[in-house]
Amino acid sequence: MQRPDWAPDTIDIERPSVARMYDYYLGGSHNFAPDRAAARAMMTAVPDAPLMAQANRAFLRRVVQFLAESGVRQFLDIGSGIPTVGNVHEIAQRVAPDSRVVYVDVDPVAVAHSREILDGNDRAAVIQEDLRRPEAILGHPEVTRLLDFSQPVAVMVVAVLHFIAPEDRPELILGRLRDALAPGSYLTLSQASDEGRGGTGERAEAERVYRRTDSQLWIRGRAELVDLFAGFELVEPGVVWVPQWRPESPESAEDAERSVFMGGVGRVGD
Ligand SMILES: C[S@@+](CC[C@H](N)C(=O)[O-])C[C@H]1O[C@@H](n2cnc3c(N)ncnc32)[C@H](O)[C@@H]1O
Repeated sequence: MQRPDWAPDTIDIERPSVARMYDYYLGGSHNFAPDRAAARAMMTAVPDAPLMAQANRAFLRRVVQFLAESGVRQFLDIGSGIPTVGNVHEIAQRVAPDSRVVYVDVDPVAVAHSREILDGNDRAAVIQEDLRRPEAILGHPEVTRLLDFSQPVAVMVVAVLHFIAPEDRPELILGRLRDALAPGSYLTLSQASDEGRGGTGERAEAERVYRRTDSQLWIRGRAELVDLFAGFELVEPGVVWVPQWRPESPESAEDAERSVFMGGVGRVGD
């Protein structure tokens, strides 16, 4: 297979990557034939897959707008993905040009492409790191250069937790991040959920597709997601299907469970 210029030499382009599959669901062009084949297998199992990616991106945009309008000026976006329409720095810096953003992803394509679009933006950076290494993220020179943890920081972990296995102890990872945050900081989570969709067989099929990729899928129910906000005060309306989180119009929240993603925002109390 021909390797395009933007693909780092280090990546295995024969193995589907969850970052590049997500790019495909969103209509992006940073993906290869094996990514597209896996994404299409997922769309056979779960025909709503592109819709869920779009609903999740729309949630991310509304949350960043809400946080920026609430006065947050620092964002740490972990599992940020291959840049697409409405990236965190674009929304935050539109509201407040002095907003600072650090993107974090394990995927070299996501990091390389983010670096390219952030070129010349001295208030945003990207690092290659793993959510499972919160110490490494918090201590990274780019993070400490751009973010001041004595002031509120919004940590975004959007559509990533379902790639974190229970044995990797997501509650401890998020707890470590929470301990670093000043009052007035926020945590945003979204993740694939089968809440109320049990028995459709979609979950088993989706898990089967993702076992062939670089990350397995770990579906969680609403109660598990609520528990992961331990130490944060949930902002209204709590943990809901993502289209139900402060929708722009009542119609946009219809059939919300088709989005497959549940999400919410928590705040560190004063
Ligand atoms: C479904 S995409 C979500 C992108 C973006 N956050 C969004 O919601 O549109 C998931 C991203 O998480 C990244 N990812 C998966 N596991 C990760 C980990 N352990 N640490 C950091 N990033 C991870 C993948 O590379 C991918 O870019």
